[in-house]
Amino acid sequence: MVVSIFKTKPIASLIAETEGKQGLKKALGATDLTLLGIGAVIGTGIFVLTGVAAANYSGPALIISFILSGLACFFAALCYAEFSSTVPVAGSAYTYSYAALGEIWAWIIGWDLILEYAVAISAVAIGWSGYAVTLLSSIGIDLPKAITSAPLDGGVVNLPAMIIIALISWLLISGIRQTSNLNGIIVAIKLIVIALFIVLAVWHIKPANWHPFMPFGFNGVVSGAAVIFFAYIGFDAVSTAAEETRNPQKNLPRGILFSLLICTALYIVVSGILTGVVKYTAFKHTSAPVAFALQQIGINWGSALVSVGAICGITSVLLVITYGQTRIFFAMARDGLIPKLFGKVSEKHQTPVTSTLLVAVVTIITAGFLPIGIVAELANIGTLFAFVIVAIGIIVLRIRKPELKRGFRTPWVPVVPILAVLSCLYLIIHLQAATLIRFVVWFAIGMVVYFLYSRRHSALQQGVVSSGQEKVE
Ligand code: ALA
Repeated sequence: MVVSIFKTKPIASLIAETEGKQGLKKALGATDLTLLGIGAVIGTGIFVLTGVAAANYSGPALIISFILSGLACFFAALCYAEFSSTVPVAGSAYTYSYAALGEIWAWIIGWDLILEYAVAISAVAIGWSGYAVTLLSSIGIDLPKAITSAPLDGGVVNLPAMIIIALISWLLISGIRQTSNLNGIIVAIKLIVIALFIVLAVWHIKPANWHPFMPFGFNGVVSGAAVIFFAYIGFDAVSTAAEETRNPQKNLPRGILFSLLICTALYIVVSGILTGVVKYTAFKHTSAPVAFALQQIGINWGSALVSVGAICGITSVLLVITYGQTRIFFAMARDGLIPKLFGKVSEKHQTPVTSTLLVAVVTIITAGFLPIGIVAELANIGTLFAFVIVAIGIIVLRIRKPELKRGFRTPWVPVVPILAVLSCLYLIIHLQAATLIRFVVWFAIGMVVYFLYSRRHSALQQGVVSSGQEKVE
């Protein structure tokens, strides 16, 4: 057997793997997928990180940061759209790279996605905590800072963030999943509170608050873009529903692109209003900036409503990404790249208990003791890196398999994928040096694990996966 780390997984076998599964009802259309995307995307980024980015990096130019980050995501989304229409199976970037680039790249992406998802769970939970604490305080219950903030933020431990992760993990272990209907309701709540914010706050804009526009210079604006990139994470979650989608070749790309476009438009409006209503410096000391802005203009009932909506919305993001993480472990364990134990489904609940518990323990610790800025940046670098590889994958797959049927074709290849790579790298280099170092360390550990364990246990290398003919249509 020739052991090659660049061996690719045949697309026909990827599709066959899903066909052998219990037939999921193919019920979702483009609208459901767009709602799914919005459900996974709008959360801590817009409700919390806007404050961090405005106060520390972008100032009132936060709106430009959102546009820059949105552009990078748009280029990447065009690549995701082509992949999802060519390989319409769940598993996202990990599966795509297995098909296009080969096992080593799939491993790198899978390992990288662990970082993205697990760390994003902690960041989202910290955001949830900020709104829960603000809401409680608005009804007269003031929790001490010691138990609601991480040490670097002047507290001891962020208990609410730890509790919400424990709760979500328990829900997932008991087999509760967000259904399409529930997601529809939560998306409606999120959109209503955002609309409420816009309608209430727009009259209170003071153009003076927009001066100076770029207090930290253009570099600050790009660093801000690299931070609030977090707000866009999750549109790729649409592809996890591939197997439940009607006509996935057409509907997946639509779901991915529509949800991204809607979120980008909302983010641009909200960030413009937010910095126009309150001086950017005031966001330094709040962990619930959208509710805070309404409080500052004296609309306390609006602030309370926004907090409730944000809490619901952020909870749903948490459910989706925690579920997504267990799904990635599942796919990697099935391929033999990580021990089978992590793909094991409990007989009682029919859910992957071991992997959910592992994710819970790690994320509870990070959420309890680290500040949101550090954690969100780490999730961002993981995601940006995944985008880079997916974009390269599009070019490679066009060269290697030009004959494959593609429901959606990324326009102007290789220009758009190259723009995706360059814009994501541009954001990556504007993250803090410490984030880059942490990422390199994680990457190095991943390489050691691959060569010591995964390569030897890979189902593909052992010939367990059929290398049947590609399905060329
Ligand atoms: N985009 C998601 C959020 O902002 C992860 O919470």
